[in-house]
Amino acid sequence: MKVFIETMGCQMNRLDSELLVGSLRAAGHEIVQDQWSADAVIYNTCSVRRHAEQKVLSRLGADGQRKASGRKLIVAVVGCMAQRMGESLRQQYPAVDIVCGPGRLYRLPELLADAAAGGTRVALDPARNEPPDPAAEARMDELDLGRDPASGAVPSQAFVRVMRGCDFFCSYCVVPFVRGPERSRSPDHIAQEVRRLVEAGRTEITLLGQTVNSYNWSGGGRRVRFSDLLERTRAVAGLRRLRFVTSHPIDFGDDVLQAMRDLPNVCPYIHVPAQSGSDAVLKRMNRRYTRARYDDLIDRARAIVPGVVLAGDFIVGFPGETEQDHAASAELIRRCGYKNSFVFKYSPRPGTAAAERFKDDVPMEVKKRRNNELLAVQAEVGLAHHRRYVGRTVEVLVEGPSPRAGKQPRPAREGEVQLVGRTRGDHIVVFDGPPGLAGRYVDVRITDATSLTLMGEGGDEPEGGTRPDTQHRDSS
Ligand code: 5AD
Ligand code: SF4
Repeated sequence: MKVFIETMGCQMNRLDSELLVGSLRAAGHEIVQDQWSADAVIYNTCSVRRHAEQKVLSRLGADGQRKASGRKLIVAVVGCMAQRMGESLRQQYPAVDIVCGPGRLYRLPELLADAAAGGTRVALDPARNEPPDPAAEARMDELDLGRDPASGAVPSQAFVRVMRGCDFFCSYCVVPFVRGPERSRSPDHIAQEVRRLVEAGRTEITLLGQTVNSYNWSGGGRRVRFSDLLERTRAVAGLRRLRFVTSHPIDFGDDVLQAMRDLPNVCPYIHVPAQSGSDAVLKRMNRRYTRARYDDLIDRARAIVPGVVLAGDFIVGFPGETEQDHAASAELIRRCGYKNSFVFKYSPRPGTAAAERFKDDVPMEVKKRRNNELLAVQAEVGLAHHRRYVGRTVEVLVEGPSPRAGKQPRPAREGEVQLVGRTRGDHIVVFDGPPGLAGRYVDVRITDATSLTLMGEGGDEPEGGTRPDTQHRDSS
């Protein structure tokens, strides 16, 4: 079958889609980029905000019309929204043939075959109050471990899952319900997966988890904390950069910060959402920390990890958020000097504590205004952050030609294109160079900056080609 996959939402979903591509290819299917020629479309969905779900529903409406007019098409909804809505998705949208939860993705080849034979299939993860299914967990782990190490969007980089689910139950968030309880993967499996990826040339690895620093695995009398996992994983030969996202402020002990300081290939970048700068809002969000505790984490990070780069998430318009609460979030952005922040308008999610307990009482115009205000503060802070790098030389892992290259002035030199890459601190860097630099680590001299990007020149490979991974800590 020709299969088209559309992925919404977070990096976890992008990784799931990458693994799906591998398992569907192994089952003999062809992955196509054009949905109109596909025999099957798979939506890998997100439930975090209503907007993301509406997008899928409008796709399903259109697919229903195509099917009604006689087009043969298998429609699969997988991931968080599939898990959240379950059987009711098929009842509301008869065009849907397959509903598959995020912990059942290993079954997709079989579900597609069943659907091709005219059946409809629903495969959901157990609800949180039901007993876990160890056999399904093992199959999911096999999907991660058995991935094709050479396939992926960016040849030099890869994501590796270290845990599934979440136990935090922030009052606004649907994730603990759709991705289930927190489970950490075996550190041996993680190291094995990283080793295979690095051997296939993927030298920058990002460890993924909803609250990645809560990683905690026990087995055979051993206990492995997140800082231990960093230590173990970073020792994989040939690994140049090790990153991790997303962190929760609660589990960020000094052990993790010290590991970031002491392990040369662990990148000095922390994405640690604050969500709000106000204690009253944090309490209603059930974030389990106060503003003072978050401030303390940022101070410890700065004191322990030289040149640490921070990124955040904020929600505006949470129920009961006052102008004063909002001003506290703006002030926190200034205090942290984030490289970038993601700002979201609160969206009540069915089944969450906030949706049940609190009225969504901040009007949409106010949410929009607060959203724009936080983005404006972040733009200012981001510009100041990026400008600090002007005049410095930074190590850049080149991703490839910039997707915006067509809109920019053409590079002056023959044979060059506009390239894009990232520093160890996760800054985006654009500079002109030959397309052959993709996947290489080069030195770029920063000449200018915007609130989101560094601009530079050079792109020379460091002397001796591959350099030991210990350098450029201070120029990340
Ligand atoms: N409404 C708005 N934003 C949300 N997020 C999570 N749930 C919601 C919601 N109900 C945001 C948080 C989280 C990011 C992934 O999405 O900021 O960190
Ligand atoms: Fe959602 Fe909170 Fe868990 Fe993050 S920590 S996934 S925001 S419940």
